Amino acid sequence: MNRWRVIIDTDPGVDDAAAILLALASPEIELLGISVVAGNVGLEASVRNACKLVAVARRPDVPVYAGAARPLVRDQVFGKYANVGAFSDALVPATDVRPRQLSAVQFIADKAREATANGHKITICAIGPLTNIALALLLHPDVVAGVEQIVAMGGAFSALGHRTAWSEYNVHADPHAADIVWNSGVPLVLFPLDVTMQALFSEDDFRGFEARGGLPGKCLARLLRAYDRSDIARYGRPGGPIHDAMTVAWLVRPELFQGQMTAIGVTVDGPTAGHTWADFYGRTDHAANAMVMKTANEAGFRQLLVERIANLGANITPAGENAA
Ligand code: RIB
Ligand code: CA
Repeated sequence: MNRWRVIIDTDPGVDDAAAILLALASPEIELLGISVVAGNVGLEASVRNACKLVAVARRPDVPVYAGAARPLVRDQVFGKYANVGAFSDALVPATDVRPRQLSAVQFIADKAREATANGHKITICAIGPLTNIALALLLHPDVVAGVEQIVAMGGAFSALGHRTAWSEYNVHADPHAADIVWNSGVPLVLFPLDVTMQALFSEDDFRGFEARGGLPGKCLARLLRAYDRSDIARYGRPGGPIHDAMTVAWLVRPELFQGQMTAIGVTVDGPTAGHTWADFYGRTDHAANAMVMKTANEAGFRQLLVERIANLGANITPAGENAA
């Protein structure tokens, strides 16, 4: 099997947790490491959350690296559950797993250069503010040659923004970084709110995670319940999106999603900073720079996540001993 060689750049984050566990559960993916950025919560808490997640999946071999503690230019804004900080030990067990010494930006550059040398380009799943990736591109321009694609959760086009009326959080948190990454020339696959909000997870799914997924499944269900993402006024039905997991799901089951190559851009300053646009109807002379996902198979995506979390965690017991 040709495996994707993947770096997850993340600000865990509950939906980030689902993405990381799905990647660890998927044989199609070789997870090279996790680079962490401040976003949903501050950098220290984000790093601790990432360490807890590799530990609960019994994969302390997957290295975690600390990256940017703040955005490139704008003032810092955190996610709506920033007060949570690190996942409590009651939700995800404590661990002695710690981040590596190398910086996240240097890790990304090193892996991209290795990829260029060995001919196996890497994929970056970008599921937080794009600060680390922008810094890697700015400080090490040769990174571009080693990156096959950046699969990012971000932006809102036909969907209204959720962090402000005009912006999605990952782009809102660091619009300058998004602008650098989107204009880097690296092939982009983008999962905006338009598509991530098409798949809603609710109690049936949570029960599936905890009934079949062992300790990782229980932890994911606890996190999803603790940090409710439902919004009946917005979605018109129960349940909430698990935005970030779609980037990983596309790598393992691309047929669940459909998109369109188009030009995208972002407003980096002024009163609508963070606003993103997509030229679906070719009204500008901008060249198409992204495959923007527009539709998702909700049932298939939900089934994939429940089944893969079951594969990952069925034999990982709360006592921490593998049952096998
Ligand atoms: O807008 C949703 C994105 O912002 C997700 O990546 C979520 O984890 C937060 O980072
Ligand atoms: Ca995220």
